Amino acid sequence: MPGFEIFGDEERKQVNDVLDSGILMRYGFDGLRNNHWKAKEFETNFAQRMQSKHCQLVSSGTSALTTALASAGIGAGDEVIMPVFTFVASFESIMALGAIPVLVDIDDTLTLDPKAVEAAITPKTKCVMPVHMCGSMADLNALQAICDKHELLLLEDACQALGGTYHGKPLGSIGDLGCFSFDFVKTITCGEGGAVITNNTNYYINSDQYQDHGHDHVGNDRGAETHPNMGYNFRISELHAAVGIAQLEKLDTILALQKKNYTVIREVLETIEGLIFRRVPEGGEENYSFLSFFLPTEELTKKAIKALSEAGVDANFYWYTNNWHYINGWEHLRNMKSLGNLSDDVKNQLKKLNDTDFSKSDAVMSRTISSLVKIGWTTEEVRERAENMKKAIVSVL
Ligand SMILES: Cc1ncc(COP(=O)(O)O)c(C=O)c1O
Repeated sequence: MPGFEIFGDEERKQVNDVLDSGILMRYGFDGLRNNHWKAKEFETNFAQRMQSKHCQLVSSGTSALTTALASAGIGAGDEVIMPVFTFVASFESIMALGAIPVLVDIDDTLTLDPKAVEAAITPKTKCVMPVHMCGSMADLNALQAICDKHELLLLEDACQALGGTYHGKPLGSIGDLGCFSFDFVKTITCGEGGAVITNNTNYYINSDQYQDHGHDHVGNDRGAETHPNMGYNFRISELHAAVGIAQLEKLDTILALQKKNYTVIREVLETIEGLIFRRVPEGGEENYSFLSFFLPTEELTKKAIKALSEAGVDANFYWYTNNWHYINGWEHLRNMKSLGNLSDDVKNQLKKLNDTDFSKSDAVMSRTISSLVKIGWTTEEVRERAENMKKAIVSVL
């Protein structure tokens, strides 16, 4: 994802503002900072862009997830339902709080299967965490209905889907809380960074305090601030936030370029018999960062990946055998490799992973190819790429 593709003078100017004042921390030093409050400014701009009441910046997407969960009171022994196709941050953020990750199947949206979610609910379930993978979303209406029925929190991981929408609303703004990453390979980047958005003022206040050691942020004497609850340090620095301000201004340009390039490739691949695109739930619009599609069988998909690579078409991901995003590659989780002790609750849940039948997800993931959409390609390069992709795929079908 392309934030890093378009670094320029705008980012440099924002960072220089911070370097010139010499105040790299987001809190305090009021007299010295030359009125630069980059984190605050980015929070205001991001909340507005995401049509959300509140935004809390943090140090990463992973810490955004932990902060969001903590802000809603998720803790030891609570179960959080998450998909088997996601990033390791999902279970890491849950387990950081002593809560229990419950992994369930995905469907042809490449995100949580609502039926699998409903089947996994127990009296301990507190939260459903859809992860909008590769630029497109879960069936949020179905998940919201389940959460309403069972009084569960809906927390959207929109780290990979910034700019996508669902029934006209920005992804991340639909559930009780939404989380974003601004790491180096996201749609916009701060180098490292993340955000929690919410319309719930209590969750926002809790997030604000939790990410800064529980500080209440009342008054302007940090040493005199009280700690309503225990927290942690997930603060973002002014330098990172400064980069984010400039990047956010470019978001609409990035999305338009992604859509343009995605559309060229899609129109060519559409003509291949047997190739089906990932399902986008009704009312959804992707952010067009990836074009994901299915081939008829696992064997053909593996052959296609090989053919694409041999044809020199880069950035086609086969997540099924990649160690980043699918449960098959998380041996450390399945075998409970932890530096320290895990609670019995967590161990009992993780022990089930090796015996749970995820064949439905396997059937989807083993046939999925996700092709990255870059924004730096010329029109000629995209067309050539699309034709080369078609040739490579057709050669194995
Ligand atoms: C879906 C998803 N969630 C969370 C994260 C974590 O973000 P970060 O790298 O900023 O911690 C990532 C990062 O790749 C991600 O893809």
